[in-house]
Amino acid sequence: MTDRVPGAVAAVSSIVILVYACATTPTTTTNPSPTANPQQPVPQGQFPGGPPGGPGGRMPLTDSARRVRDSVTAARRDSGAAMVLRSIAGRENQPAESVFKNIKILKGVPAARLVNIMNMGFGRSLGVSCGFCHVPGKWDLDDKREKNTARIMIAMVGTINRDYLAKVPVDSGPPPTANCFTCHRGMPKPMGPGSGPPR
Ligand code: HEC
Ligand code: HEC
Repeated sequence: MTDRVPGAVAAVSSIVILVYACATTPTTTTNPSPTANPQQPVPQGQFPGGPPGGPGGRMPLTDSARRVRDSVTAARRDSGAAMVLRSIAGRENQPAESVFKNIKILKGVPAARLVNIMNMGFGRSLGVSCGFCHVPGKWDLDDKREKNTARIMIAMVGTINRDYLAKVPVDSGPPPTANCFTCHRGMPKPMGPGSGPPR
């Protein structure tokens, strides 16, 4: 399966880099509510930009709307991640593919780190909770289109990093890398209205 997704292996290391880069960024959202429920859909109409991934997924959010959305989605993600971590207790450091059922790309990543990638790498970069790509609790199913889009994106980021950014000349230090946040910046769809080519 992996060979149908070129760049996947390189993506793994770049995603891991991204997660730790992200994890050190200050956030206003580290206050998970104990009542957060990852199964609950984001209420329609609660955000001026529309629900993440809905028809309004392209709309820029005001700063205050973004803060509300971020605290709701971060709490749900933390609760989904905690649910998964409890279920894999004792196996956190085993490779993801030996702990989980349907790992096609992120092979070799320690299981607990995969959960962190889901939370801080994917969810936070897109401004969504786990339910954007999963039916929470049924993590192995591929029934949401967004999950498969995410697999394509992982491969794309791997190619960008390996075939292009790795070749950018730098004075010192590691070459630049791109990650989910580079484009998405906390939105499910990175391209807002008016961001296309001039007509
Ligand atoms: C942007 C989409 C996206 C988001 C958001 C997301 N995931 Fe995932 N998740 C994926 C993809 C893609 C895979 C499969 C990776 C692969 O094939 O290597 C996956 C796989 C998993 C798996 C492995 C399931 C199995 O048995 O194979 C678990 C567990 C999981 N995710 C939990 C979570 C949790 C918890 C959250 C929220 C904190 C979350 N995911 C958020 C895309 C996402
Ligand atoms: C080079 C820019 C770029 C990078 C990097 C990138 N994406 Fe995307 N992503 C896009 C664009 C463009 C779209 C299409 C948005 C649209 O439909 O308007 C998209 C769409 C998506 C969608 C579908 C959203 C929806 O509403 O259906 C998912 C899921 C996604 N990306 C996940 C990811 C993940 C996970 C990563 C990191 C592994 C990532 N993306 C990195 C540009 C990028």
